[in-house]
Amino acid sequence: MCGIIGYTGNRQARDVILSGLKRLEYRGYDSAGIAIGNGSLNVIKDKGDIDHLISVLPVMRGKFGIGHTRWATHGPPIKNNSHPMTDCKGQIALVHNGIIENNITLREELMKRGHVFRSETDTEVAVHLLEEFYDGDLEAAMRKTIKELKGSFALVAIHNGENGKIVGARNISPLVVGVGKRENFLASDVPAILEYTDRMIYLLDGEVVTLTKDRVRITNFEGKEIKRSWQKVDMTLEGAEKGGYDHFMLKEIFEQPKVIQDTIIGANLNAESGYSIDLTPDTIKIIACGTSYHAGYVGKYMLEELTHTPTTVELASEYRFSSDTHSEPLVIGISQSGETTDTLSAIKTAQKRGLDTLGIVNIVGSTMTREADSVLYTRAGLEVGVAATKTYITQLVALLTLSIKMGVAKETLGIDDARHLTKELRKLPKNVRSVLDQSDAIYELAQKISGAKSMFFLGRNINFPVALEGALKMKEISYIHAEGYPGGELKHGPLALVTEKTPVIAIAVKDQTYEKMLGNIGEVSARGATVIAIGTEGDRELDKYADYVFYIPDVPPLFTPILTSVVMQLLAYHTANILGCEIDKPRHLAKSVTVE
Ligand code: AGP
Ligand code: GLU
Repeated sequence: MCGIIGYTGNRQARDVILSGLKRLEYRGYDSAGIAIGNGSLNVIKDKGDIDHLISVLPVMRGKFGIGHTRWATHGPPIKNNSHPMTDCKGQIALVHNGIIENNITLREELMKRGHVFRSETDTEVAVHLLEEFYDGDLEAAMRKTIKELKGSFALVAIHNGENGKIVGARNISPLVVGVGKRENFLASDVPAILEYTDRMIYLLDGEVVTLTKDRVRITNFEGKEIKRSWQKVDMTLEGAEKGGYDHFMLKEIFEQPKVIQDTIIGANLNAESGYSIDLTPDTIKIIACGTSYHAGYVGKYMLEELTHTPTTVELASEYRFSSDTHSEPLVIGISQSGETTDTLSAIKTAQKRGLDTLGIVNIVGSTMTREADSVLYTRAGLEVGVAATKTYITQLVALLTLSIKMGVAKETLGIDDARHLTKELRKLPKNVRSVLDQSDAIYELAQKISGAKSMFFLGRNINFPVALEGALKMKEISYIHAEGYPGGELKHGPLALVTEKTPVIAIAVKDQTYEKMLGNIGEVSARGATVIAIGTEGDRELDKYADYVFYIPDVPPLFTPILTSVVMQLLAYHTANILGCEIDKPRHLAKSVTVE
């Protein structure tokens, strides 16, 4: 979480840092701050988002500096807890992403030695350690400081006595160096600096970097120099603009036909170059968090259907603490950002257990792409809205292409069937478009249900995880309590919560669960609930059961989640918009969760 940016060069650092922070805002937005070096340090920070920071910022001249947009883990979002943190003498400024786990012990020791703390954050210990170790060389002090720290960090610091120098260090939390001409950049994420350069060096865990405008020096924590050249990123800034839409989320929902297409083409290229995994494992384990977990859950049904391989899905934060069962599954980690700490740690756990790992990742160059044994890319482009939409849809597409490929390799899927499915895949962009065309009708419905305090999302089989995802989307952006349930489970408890005030969104497409879903719709209708059903085009029965129905094109059952999910995304978006919520930056959340 949180966004970090550093700049050294010939421009006014303030402008570069503010524009970078604006682009990083999706990573955290409860407070923000900036430190500019110009003989002395000028530090301005406050509670609130970047626009607020800009409104209170004086003219700050200086050609090097650092900035931060915070997602609080230790201490509430107030001015004193905002970064940059400064040392007792006000000579060093530091920004941090991550959690310093031994901060309490370190704080006690530092206080005993006379350091005065001004914040409740875990971060502040690091700036006092830098102060203790500083002996005219910030890089050396950084190296000594990180030896004292336990936990995850991306740290970036400047010292007023070392003009034009920025020192960064990475353990778990991401940092990328942008290489410019007579200027250099450091950031948590590529989009922050893409406006200035497309030449990037991804810092690895256990590395320290020292930047001046003419030099990038990377060393390991012991001080040994590491040679690494930059790589050109093929990301465009277009993704970082709203392009006429009111919100990034809506723009990203409407981009789905295109990114599905890109992911299908990409998967073919991947297949040609061949990801180096065993395509016929005995079992599969999928690990991920949040929306990516839901995609993985849908993937379980795809993989089991097409490859007959027992597949389990586990939350990454739980997998790490599971027992080593001595079975040898292929482990698939799914992450749009490729930076989610829980998922990265789970991948490491799997590797320690000697298992093959495949990452399904959206961000090229992200940590997971380097750490997983093989990578299958989704091609969703940059997703800015905190609520995942297009990246999730492309994860479903990637899982479908993988299942087809594995099914053929395992001979559980005949060539003709594989061809048929591939043909259906190609029709997906058009089919998604036909769901997007219903956006206005979904908006009308959202007006009717936006006053609800609680909602249920029901589905069965492959559309059960879609119900989970529909509920997650609704709660994260509209703040309406929502629960996703398998239709059959409702009567075992949650039905007690269903009243005429609880809208129920039920996925009742024409598959083997259809009749059962009609039964569940009947159950909730009998309790007075308003039922919004999602059905298959041509179904003449459903509207006799439900109050409102949205139809998706008639596609093979394995493809339905890709279409039913889009209805859910639009429903959550319109509901949140009607309620006037901060759609792209929901409260307490951040795009990339780089803490545990
Ligand atoms: C999605 O809307 C959420 N914001 C969140 O659940 C997200 O999917 C999760 O944090 C996983 O992120 P990742 O795909 O980048 O690993
Ligand atoms: N743990 C630090 C804090 O609470 C950094 C949080 C962040 O990554 O934004 O201030």
